[in-house]
Amino acid sequence: MTNDQGDKLYIQLISVHGLIRGHNLELGRDADTGGQVKYVVELARALAEHPEVERVDLLTRQVIDPKVDADYAEPIERIGNHAYIVRLPCGPRRYLRKEVLWPHLDSFADQALKHVREVGRVPDIIHSHYADAGYVGARLAGLLGAPLIHTGHSLGREKRRRLEDRGAKPHNIEKQYNISQRIEAEEWAMDSAILVIASTTQEVEEQYSLYDNYHPKRMRVIPPGTDLSRFRPPRGRITDIPIYKEIARFLRQPRKPMILALSRADERKNIGTLIRAYGENQHLQELANLVVVAGNRDDIAHMNAGPRKVLNDLLLQIDRYDLYGRVAYPKHHASSDVPDLYQMAAHTRGVFVNPALTEPFGLTLIEAAASHLPVVATEDGGPRDIQAHCKNGILVDPLDADGMGEALLQAVSDGRRWRRWADAGLKGAYRYYSWGSHVESYLKEVHRLLGKRHRKRMIQTAKSRLPTIDRLVVCGLDDTLLGDRRGLNRLLERLHEAGPHVGLGIATGRSLHSALQTLKAWSVPLPDLLITSVGAEIYYGRQLVRDTGWDRHIDYRWEPERLRKALKGVPGLRLQPKTNQHPHKISYYINADRAPKIRELVRHMRSQDLHAKVVFSHGSNLDLLPIRACKGQAVRYLGAKWGLWPEHMLVAGDSGNDLEMLRGNTLGVVVGNHHPEIRRLKGEPRIYFAEGRHAWGILEGIDHYDFLGTIHIPGEAETEPENELDEA
Ligand code: GLC
Repeated sequence: MTNDQGDKLYIQLISVHGLIRGHNLELGRDADTGGQVKYVVELARALAEHPEVERVDLLTRQVIDPKVDADYAEPIERIGNHAYIVRLPCGPRRYLRKEVLWPHLDSFADQALKHVREVGRVPDIIHSHYADAGYVGARLAGLLGAPLIHTGHSLGREKRRRLEDRGAKPHNIEKQYNISQRIEAEEWAMDSAILVIASTTQEVEEQYSLYDNYHPKRMRVIPPGTDLSRFRPPRGRITDIPIYKEIARFLRQPRKPMILALSRADERKNIGTLIRAYGENQHLQELANLVVVAGNRDDIAHMNAGPRKVLNDLLLQIDRYDLYGRVAYPKHHASSDVPDLYQMAAHTRGVFVNPALTEPFGLTLIEAAASHLPVVATEDGGPRDIQAHCKNGILVDPLDADGMGEALLQAVSDGRRWRRWADAGLKGAYRYYSWGSHVESYLKEVHRLLGKRHRKRMIQTAKSRLPTIDRLVVCGLDDTLLGDRRGLNRLLERLHEAGPHVGLGIATGRSLHSALQTLKAWSVPLPDLLITSVGAEIYYGRQLVRDTGWDRHIDYRWEPERLRKALKGVPGLRLQPKTNQHPHKISYYINADRAPKIRELVRHMRSQDLHAKVVFSHGSNLDLLPIRACKGQAVRYLGAKWGLWPEHMLVAGDSGNDLEMLRGNTLGVVVGNHHPEIRRLKGEPRIYFAEGRHAWGILEGIDHYDFLGTIHIPGEAETEPENELDEA
């Protein structure tokens, strides 16, 4: 499988929070370093092993903090043949819990863009994990024109519901968990994603369905893979299994089938009902032993209240039903004993039981199945899916002790049935729950999606060229790019001939709508980027994805209502029509004879503590913009964002609203037909006044700087261009 162009796939996984590395995962160290971390690392490796995948990058947050291991500070870590963990700076260097990362996610996304540029290739798939990465992923996918896959792992709406059920106050939930921000990010990710991958059907039906952007058609259940390599059908003699001795000492007839339960000593694991089921079923007691492995303990009296109660009850029940010699409840086991426990039970032709009150996933059931051990499990989401795939046992009502006893009896009383279940489970585990099979299903979906895009072009995710160009021409529209049809065509031809590493941007005072109309009228294809309304907005690519980061960036100190009021009644100023106004741009016509000097207007605004950039152009237009906006700022922002040196950007203009964009380290070109207001640029460095009019002037500028060749700045000593990447 390959992408549209027939290349092997480049996949970017994003998982922002927690401590992620390729070895010795610190699972359970804190609330952010748990199952998801294991999931993404294993997924990255498994995907990268597939022959049709070229490279997998797992993007996460870089943490430089003496309180955590230095591994998490490494910018890049190779975790497989074609798999890497890429750590990107995101806000403060120290380790932060996920709830406080929100303000830093935009910068994470910008860092990810730089990474794309370094790799030199736009990913074929971006796959975000959890809400925070969903936010970053939705943003990146939009900017890069790459399809997004999202996996929630756990969902904010469900969490809020559970907290509220427990009596938590909405205000406190908000304060502690930033929950509405999380939910909003989840909504956005689900809205942007062409595919949402969930682990179980129940998760889809009960949790994702709570969202406005729940689109069942775009959802797929692909259970996480499990590392099945540790789990095997029994071999050799049972007495060779190290933990066997420890278990056997509890049992009068240890070779009888074992009913194995394995869980934490937690009330919700419902061990009590299991003991009752066994204790009240004589026949079952005759046929089988019960082995309850409920965590590790030294002295029950010193344990926390929860597990202490569970274990006290267990001992009392064993005594009540007089189960001595039939039930084993070892004090200790190592995690390396776990595969042995299943093997041991399978050896005796026993059964694994998971009686938990609820079970959203049920990893232990899959481990049992891979060990050739049938299962009896609670009838809930996870077991239901597993049973449907593996057909290796029975589901029970966890509150019905009699029913549970009967089910266990069925599992151990008929040898043929036992073998049928054990065989089916073994096959099903590998077929549906290995990472290999996860990756097969995953890539099948990807193939379907990329294929569909190709056929129908319905999800127009044409990839952006911006991360792969190495130079960019940005020009004004009216009177610069346009005005002379032959010059225009010649320019477009030359840019096209130069090849895919040269990009074209347009910076105009017009609104997006009006700019698009004008481009159409002149038959100019959509450029790689559009700066409209004098730099109040930036759009990318054929899909015209808006740079919302820019919107937020420029909003600083912008008070349009007060500005309009302050300028009301000033002689010589008349508001332009509504279509020329924009949330970040107020435009007037100015009659220079009657109006006060611009300097005085600025002073007038400042005296009222108002801030705006004032742009005079074409002899008769006056625009007010936020102080961070305007074409010039936009060009610099773009350079930083997409990793282009100023020397690799040629800017061309003709009027006052181009002034700021023409100045600085970029290569400026003023076309022959320019307005008088920009004559003052004459003699400034890196400003070339062309003779040619309109596009002919741009062409002349291109030659002046040899912009499509080696790039040369006449009059300046040859130096390496300075990297201004970190400026914005
Ligand atoms: C365009 C805009 C106008 C603006 C002028 C100068 O003509 O439509 O609103 O004042 O450019 O920037």
